[in-house]
This record gives sequence, structure tokens and C-alpha cells, in this order.
Amino acid sequence: MSTNRLWVSFLIIVLVEGWLSECCWDEERDALLHLKAQFHHSPSDWVDGSDCCLWENVECNNTTKRVSKLVLSESYAYLSDFHVFKALESLDLSYNNIAGFVQSKGNERLSWPSSLEVLDLSFNSLRNDSVSSFSDLKCLKQLNLRNNELEGYLNISGKYDK
Ligand SMILES: *[C@@H]1O[C@H](CO)[C@@H](O)[C@H](O)[C@H]1NC(C)=O
Ligand SMILES: *[C@@H]1O[C@H](CO)[C@@H](O)[C@H](O)[C@H]1NC(C)=O
Ligand SMILES: *[C@@H]1O[C@H](CO)[C@@H](O)[C@H](O)[C@H]1NC(C)=O
Ligand SMILES: *[C@@H]1O[C@H](CO)[C@@H](O)[C@H](O)[C@H]1NC(C)=O
Repeated sequence: MSTNRLWVSFLIIVLVEGWLSECCWDEERDALLHLKAQFHHSPSDWVDGSDCCLWENVECNNTTKRVSKLVLSESYAYLSDFHVFKALESLDLSYNNIAGFVQSKGNERLSWPSSLEVLDLSFNSLRNDSVSSFSDLKCLKQLNLRNNELEGYLNISGKYDK
């Protein structure tokens, strides 16, 4: 191989790696694609191999490229565990019939990443025994629990006072 060719190969490798590092994290994209498989109406731009930070209803931290916000309202899509999203700050799961999902999973409890600042679980018919305590969410600023059957948490919305 000539020196020129070597240099060209080297340059291509550097360019491709630079381009890849601009993308979202593989495990987060995989989790989103897993969610997509459950959507009633799939967002058309949630496509494998593309940068999930650019997808509809997804926002990332511009520096770390980790998913920071997810809007999954009325998608009927959920994971039993959102912990794969290590820097998730805002999660909207309203209108998702999560109660039905929890039942189908043998009543496992839902829990959320401790990085969450905003969590919307309104309109899900959730009961006390399907959620973990919210007191682990130390960064929580807003919690919307309207229209669930969470006794003791009745009609909480807006600012969450621990
Ligand atoms: C992005 O992540 C970095 C590192 O965790 C953090 O310092 C920064 O505040 C984040 N940016 C935004 C806009 O949240
Ligand atoms: C990230 O960058 C894009 C484009 O530069 C900008 O529109 C967006 O507001 C930024 N997001 C955050 C959280 O800073
Ligand atoms: C539901 O959980 C809340 C918060 O932990 C608690 O205050 C309430 O007593 C519980 N209600 C029932 C019926 O267990
Ligand atoms: C909670 O909301 C429901 C429906 O809007 C209402 O019937 C109920 O009285 C409310 N409970 C409390 C404690 O405010």
C-alpha cells in the first residue's frame, strides 16, 4: 500500500469515529427501538442506525449525547425499567394505561432513574402497589399523578414537596 493510501485510510477512520461519537449511546438507542416496537403510532424517524438525539419526542444533553427528555404520552409504550437512560431528566408517560402493563408483568413495581426532575404519570390508573416510592428521586421538581388510584398521593400535580 502506498503512503498516500495509508493516509487516506487513516483519515477515513478518524472521520468515521468523529461522526460516530456525535451520535447517541447504543444502549439508549436500543431501548428506544424496543419502546418503538410497542407504539400504536410509530414516529417515522425512529430508525435504527440514525442518531436518536434527532428523533421526534427525544431530547439529548448536547455535551454527553445522553437522552435527557422523553415524551411518550399516549404511546402505550413503556419499559419496566427506565434506568438505561442514565441522565434522563424529564419523562412524560401520561395516558399510557400503565396499570394494565404492570398487571401483565405480574405486578412488578415501576421505578425510575434518580436523575429525574420532571415525571408525568397522569391518567394511568396506577395503584399504590405498582409504584416504588418517589422519595428516591432526589432531583424531582415536578410530579404529576393526576387521575391515578394512588391513595395518599391523591391528585398531586405541579411542584412535589418531599
Ligand atoms: C449536560 O451534561 C453535562 C455533564 O453531565 C452537564 O454538566 C450539563 O449541565 C448538561 N447540560 C444540560 C443543558 O443539561
Ligand atoms: C442543543 O443544541 C441544539 C442545536 O444547537 C439546540 O437547538 C438545543 O436547544 C440544545 N439543547 C439544549 C438542551 O441545550
Ligand atoms: C400509598 O402510598 C402513600 C405514600 O407512600 C401512603 O401515604 C399511603 O398511605 C398509601 N396508601 C395505601 C392505601 O396503602
Ligand atoms: C381528586 O380528583 C377527583 C377527580 O377530579 C375528585 O373527584 C376528588 O375529589 C379529588 N380528591 C381530592 C382529595 O382532591
